[in-house]
Amino acid sequence: MSLKASLIAGVLIAGWSLTAAAETPVERGRYLVESIAGCGNCHSLQDAGGVVPGKEFAGGPPIKDAAFDAWPANITPDKETGIGSWSDAEIVRAIREGVDRDGRLMGPPMPFWLYRDIADDDVNAMVAYLRTVKPVKNKVPDSVYRIPLPPAWGPAVAGVTAPPRTDKVAYGGYLAGPVGHCVECHTPMTDKGGLDMARLGAGAREFHGLWGTSISRNITPAAMGDWSDAEIKRAITTGVSRDGTRLLPPMGFGFYARMTDGDLDALVAWMRSLKPAD
Ligand code: HEC
Ligand code: HEC
Repeated sequence: MSLKASLIAGVLIAGWSLTAAAETPVERGRYLVESIAGCGNCHSLQDAGGVVPGKEFAGGPPIKDAAFDAWPANITPDKETGIGSWSDAEIVRAIREGVDRDGRLMGPPMPFWLYRDIADDDVNAMVAYLRTVKPVKNKVPDSVYRIPLPPAWGPAVAGVTAPPRTDKVAYGGYLAGPVGHCVECHTPMTDKGGLDMARLGAGAREFHGLWGTSISRNITPAAMGDWSDAEIKRAITTGVSRDGTRLLPPMGFGFYARMTDGDLDALVAWMRSLKPAD
């Protein structure tokens, strides 16, 4: 192709992607749920090959801990065993406030304290998408919590907006916190059991499962300052670390592989802005 022809093609492609950027709520919801939010990492049955076909969102395996046996709910539109008969507002409240349809407060590990800052548009888009997935009949047992839950995860939520995408660090922080809860897994706990926010991103959390034990890594510039952007993105989207070793679950690499390059850039910008922590 001549230079002129390729320039014209480039302009046409740029023009096409501008029109294509006008996503519908269902498309936006699919993107968030299936990539950065990775809801299926808990709510779908998975095996070594990823999510088991036909079991998408039908309820995940229990997540067991000293503090709880948590059973990720069936969030398909099945009317009896899923959320098909819930209103949009009830589903939004469950996601952002951790209150189920009967008014019962839900416990960890669904990160409600972060989800409360998911923007109105984005949480509504997630609900719009969940309404379109295949209903699956699967009755999930009730979760058991052996720790006292707070009276509420916070006051009622409404009127949340996301930071502008042009502010990469802030938007990356929105993806890494409220939407993707990277911060939850990658921040050490204090003696009192809360996250040590002064050491945001320092890692050192332990996860037990079929894979054995994995320990989240330090993702602040103290550990990753000399990695290239491409190396960081490869680790997030493929689970291959800088030295070529394969990273273990429960981080949802297969979900993050579906992120747009722009969103990955924002995540990297946010990681590079963190206070270096040992
Ligand atoms: C870390 C695991 C985890 C992640 C990530 C997670 N959830 Fe959950 N979710 C759970 C568990 C466990 C429950 C059940 C809690 C209970 O009943 O006490 C639950 C409950 C729910 C409920 C209430 C349904 C019902 O029938 O009670 C909804 C709706 C929901 N999740 C949607 C989502 C969406 C949407 C996302 C992604 C933005 C998500 N969850 C991410 C673990 C998770
Ligand atoms: C459910 C917990 C969990 C979530 C959510 C999570 N991670 Fe991880 N992450 C881990 C664990 C555990 C490891 C280390 C795995 C290992 O050592 O095999 C890891 C490894 C990494 C690595 C590789 C570092 C290295 O030295 O190779 C990067 C980068 C990373 N995470 C960034 C992120 C980002 C960005 C997000 C959000 C998009 C995220 N993580 C979400 C648990 C999590």
